[in-house]
Amino acid sequence: MIVDAQGRRFRNLRVSLTAACNYACTYCVPDGKRLQAAVAELSAAELLRAVRLLVESAGIDKLRITGGEPLLTPKFDEFLPAVMKLPLTDVSVTTNGQFLAKKADIIVSSGLKRINVSLDTLNPLRFRTLARSGDLETVLAGLELMLDAGLKVKVNMVPMKSANVDQILPMLEYCLERGIELRFIELMNMGHLKYSATYHRDFFGMDDILSLIGTRYEFARTDAPFDSTSVRYEIPDHASPTRPPGRAGVFGIIANESEPFCASCTRLRLSSNGYLYGCLSSTKRHPIADVLKLPDDQARTLLQSRLMGALGDKQTVQFKGEVTVMKFIGG
Ligand code: 5AD
Repeated sequence: MIVDAQGRRFRNLRVSLTAACNYACTYCVPDGKRLQAAVAELSAAELLRAVRLLVESAGIDKLRITGGEPLLTPKFDEFLPAVMKLPLTDVSVTTNGQFLAKKADIIVSSGLKRINVSLDTLNPLRFRTLARSGDLETVLAGLELMLDAGLKVKVNMVPMKSANVDQILPMLEYCLERGIELRFIELMNMGHLKYSATYHRDFFGMDDILSLIGTRYEFARTDAPFDSTSVRYEIPDHASPTRPPGRAGVFGIIANESEPFCASCTRLRLSSNGYLYGCLSSTKRHPIADVLKLPDDQARTLLQSRLMGALGDKQTVQFKGEVTVMKFIGG
């Protein structure tokens, strides 16, 4: 097992199935170009072998399937049922939710237990301005379908001053009523935002989010797993009476700026075109195309040196941001 000087090792792998996305969210895509042609992307079989080798040589035990938009590619249909058979303690999918209804059968029959849906507003018009595509009703219907099928659902929202701060309370209410954990992701200084004044203008951080929520709800900070990216809060029963019984009234903040979690980060990313990334805040990448040409035992050995390189890319304390774009390296 490879461990760095801060005691960090890779446990969580995020695999991007494709860089293509049917949305062009303002914070991710600068020019509104949507469907990116998939350039030299790995097949489902290659991605599966890479995951298996990483499970064997890096000690990965948690997997997140992401993109781009993972439900957009037919690779998803082959990839999901196959990874569910690997010795992993946890598998989840991050999606924009637009194709959940279409993929519901595959998702449910695979035995997947949980799913994260990215949703930044409950206002249908604002949804179109932000995502520059898609349709709010379709996402909400897909989300309900997942809840009905018994999956644990989390919703990711990126609050931005100019776009959706007025949606924080309605989104929280919507999620509490359904037993969904809402997670606010602090806007990250990535991609085209890195050198743009928009980032600082739009940033709405943890303190602001908590003060706003405090105007309507009581809450208390609660425990989160040691390598969790989110700070979690519980809203007591009496403060959210519409919540279904037995479902925790929990929300989280992924506070990359306000409470950086680099020191306990266990994440490794594999991009759809075959590169390992040890850190979202680094442009360094480590190819695996040559690894995949080797038989298993040699592949595992070469992979170890690539993993060592990737682990060395982690920041010591703080997320610094980078020009890398989330949809290319996996959100
Ligand atoms: N800052 C914060 N979150 C982002 N995401 C994509 N780009 C950014 C950014 N610059 C989010 C998406 C999705 C998750 C995978 O990452 O909204 O929920």
